[in-house]
Amino acid sequence: MTNKRIVYRPPNPEIVQIVEDYRRDPAAILEIYSTLQSRRGGLDKESIRDVARALNIPETKAYEVASFYSMLSLTPQKQGVIRVCDGPVCWLCGGDELRQAVDQAYADDPDWRVERTSCLGLCDRAPAVLVGEDQAGPVQPEQAPRLTHGWLGSAIDYSQPRPGEVRIMLALAGKIDPDSLTSALQHGVYAGFKHALGQSPGSIIDQVEASGLSGRGGAGFSVGRKWRFVAQAARSPKYVICNADESEPLIFKDRVLIDTNPHQILEGMAIAGYATGAQQAYIYIRGEYAHQSERLERAIHQAEQAGWLGDHIQGGDFSFHVHVHRGAGAYICGEETALIESLEGKRGEPRNRPPYPPTAGLQGLPTLVNNVESYSAVPAIIQKGAEWYRSLSQATTPGTKLYMLLGHVRQPGLFEAPFGITLRQAIDDFGGGMLPGSSFHFALTGGAAGTIVPASLLDEPIDYPSAAKGIALGAGAFLICDKRVSPVAFLRQLLHFFAQESCGKCTPCRVGTHQSLEILTRLTTGQGIAGDGATLGRLAEVMQVASFCGLGQSVAIPVKSALLHFADDFHQAEVPTT
Ligand SMILES: Cc1cc2nc3c(=O)[nH]c(=O)nc-3n(C[C@H](O)[C@H](O)[C@H](O)COP(=O)(O)O)c2cc1C
Ligand code: SF4
Ligand code: FES
Repeated sequence: MTNKRIVYRPPNPEIVQIVEDYRRDPAAILEIYSTLQSRRGGLDKESIRDVARALNIPETKAYEVASFYSMLSLTPQKQGVIRVCDGPVCWLCGGDELRQAVDQAYADDPDWRVERTSCLGLCDRAPAVLVGEDQAGPVQPEQAPRLTHGWLGSAIDYSQPRPGEVRIMLALAGKIDPDSLTSALQHGVYAGFKHALGQSPGSIIDQVEASGLSGRGGAGFSVGRKWRFVAQAARSPKYVICNADESEPLIFKDRVLIDTNPHQILEGMAIAGYATGAQQAYIYIRGEYAHQSERLERAIHQAEQAGWLGDHIQGGDFSFHVHVHRGAGAYICGEETALIESLEGKRGEPRNRPPYPPTAGLQGLPTLVNNVESYSAVPAIIQKGAEWYRSLSQATTPGTKLYMLLGHVRQPGLFEAPFGITLRQAIDDFGGGMLPGSSFHFALTGGAAGTIVPASLLDEPIDYPSAAKGIALGAGAFLICDKRVSPVAFLRQLLHFFAQESCGKCTPCRVGTHQSLEILTRLTTGQGIAGDGATLGRLAEVMQVASFCGLGQSVAIPVKSALLHFADDFHQAEVPTT
């Protein structure tokens, strides 16, 4: 027998206080970690243990959450972090050269360290960088030393529509002060909600369904039908979630909507809450959108003060509370069930579906998950009617869409137009044409998990059904590449992203993305071997049929379309050049 003395060490008082500030709620563990990290520069084992004790959860659970998210650091450091994006758009715009310059500029700087990061949602500012919490871009290599001295480049101004735009969700961009409720009210924001409150919840759902509004997170599922599922679910309470994770390369529309009209999003969410019978709502926003997160918090506070959110809205029976929840760096948290896991204070790993969130979502209760753009479209529909909304588009899908145009065009950026535009229209009518001296080679359409398409599809109208013809709409992005870009090298960048962001829960995706990346690295460094293209195709097939969630399943889309349209490029790369 030993006389070992067990000494009780109380948890660190600072940590206990932070945990108290979050009402000892284990679901708030990400916020607790982020607060702790901002004070201490990271999370060491002792602080993770203390958080676990203060929250009364197992240490293993606290550790598995801390180790999941890329913005949480397990090695406390005094320095600030400069995160340089290595996503495909930044790569196309000189991201590799920028990374070298930033590395060099801060190599001996005691106050800053440099890290890679996946897409920052700043693709219209590529190559982009996050300096602490400040968004910067476009950054040329020679500007790297200025990043920590307040120079952050400049964002594109979206206040003026491009010729041909039809602005509904962007109608007030540049016309209102996004940080002023008074300004928003003067321009009619919350009028749709007021109108909704005078009608029955069922009639609101009827109107949204009749409008044909489709979910803008990528899949295009009917918004009205989803609302009906939640409204009809027997159990309560019910929840509304706004998906503002927006971590897929090429996609930055939700950021622009938040920055131009945050009250419009809150209004759409409040209408959704009224229609479905939910009183609590969450906006899950990616951790890298610190400023957008603050903007939303401010808007919520203003709306509560003015009686547009909170208890007994406008003196009536309906109460609706909105909370902002910041992620901490993980693309997979955009997948709705992974998002819900993360919101519950767990690792952001997807759940088995079914059951789907409308029947069993947050805390196992009926939950509506829609994208920022989906909510932003709702107020105008309620004000002007389903017929009006349907009349905006001649394509299969009614209404307007936010499109993101990037790459080798004269005027990249974001615009709003009806569904059914072609790539040629996007490039020539909205993007001012290809860059001088540059000619079209291929485009990636949809998002990172979209289709790689050749010139033969330039005149195909793009809508959700066009995916069956080989050209995907996805979340609405078009990345245009000219003849200087090799489709094989480009695909390698996409696989780099997927391999980095695979959550690792299932083998087909965890191993398949890494093996595909290895093959593509061989092919782009003159070491390709015979049969590499065919192996890539087989791996894509396995990931598509056997992956657990949409991330792994959709990697096959760009791989298969690149192999289909650019088979010769892969074949040529299989022959070693040395
Ligand atoms: C890997 C992955 C990432 C996703 N990321 C997002 C995202 O950032 N934002 C989003 O709204 N939907 C994202 N989705 C789709 C969501 O799971 C969900 O379908 C969507 O939020 C529903 O909203 P909607 O019906 O308004 O489109 C993602 C799906 C997958 C598989
Ligand atoms: S498919 Fe990929 S992201 Fe989805 S659960 Fe499997 S490993 Fe995770
Ligand atoms: S910000 Fe770099 S790829 Fe999107």
